[in-house]
This record gives sequence, structure tokens and C-alpha cells, in this order.
Amino acid sequence: MVVHITLNGRDLAVDGAPTILELARAQGAHVPTLCDYDGHANGVCRLCMVETDGGGRAAAACTTRVRDGMTIRTDTPHLQGLRRGLVSLLLQEQGPHNGSHPGDLERLRRLSLLD
Ligand code: FES
Repeated sequence: MVVHITLNGRDLAVDGAPTILELARAQGAHVPTLCDYDGHANGVCRLCMVETDGGGRAAAACTTRVRDGMTIRTDTPHLQGLRRGLVSLLLQEQGPHNGSHPGDLERLRRLSLLD
């Protein structure tokens, strides 16, 4: 089944029902992730939040499947602020050396979410 969606202003016809993250990656749109290891996200970190349906809703790209008529934006000032806030909370809760996965801090640095 083909669904028609808009991703960052581009109209696309998509075969099947990929997740927003899978579609974004296939289209070259960067969506930051933290709990996505080897293509298996567990939907916990929420860093992959994107705006859907005109910006009125936010959805986790790794666990939300595209649907016909969906409008998706992967990078907006609102999303950037949301992601920075989430990273700050994650670091406050776990700390970079307090039980978190050893690669998490490095992944955050690569995402340019840390100074
Ligand atoms: S990558 Fe962690 S919630 Fe989507």
C-alpha cells in the first residue's frame, strides 16, 4: 500500500508503513537518537521527537509509523529546544559516568547536543 506524506516540505509516495525514523533516514533527513542501537529503538529516550500534522503534535520517530496524509518536520527550533531539554534531563538523572551506557555521552557529543 502506498501512502502519501510530506517530509520537511517534500511530498513523497511511500510504499509500506515504515517508521518515521526509517523513512527520514532513507530520505537523508537527520533525526537524533539515543536508545536506537543497531536499528532497534525501544522508544525511551524521546530524542527522536518530530513534529507531525502541521506542528501541532510531536511523535517519537522510532516508534511511530507513517500514515497517509501525514506531514512531518524533523528539524525546527521547537524540536531543537525540546531535544536539548531532554539531553539535560538525561544527564541530570544518570550522569555521564553513573551507570549509563559508556557510548551514550559520546553519542550525545556526536549529535552536537552538548557543548
Ligand atoms: S530513539 Fe529513543 S525514543 Fe526514539
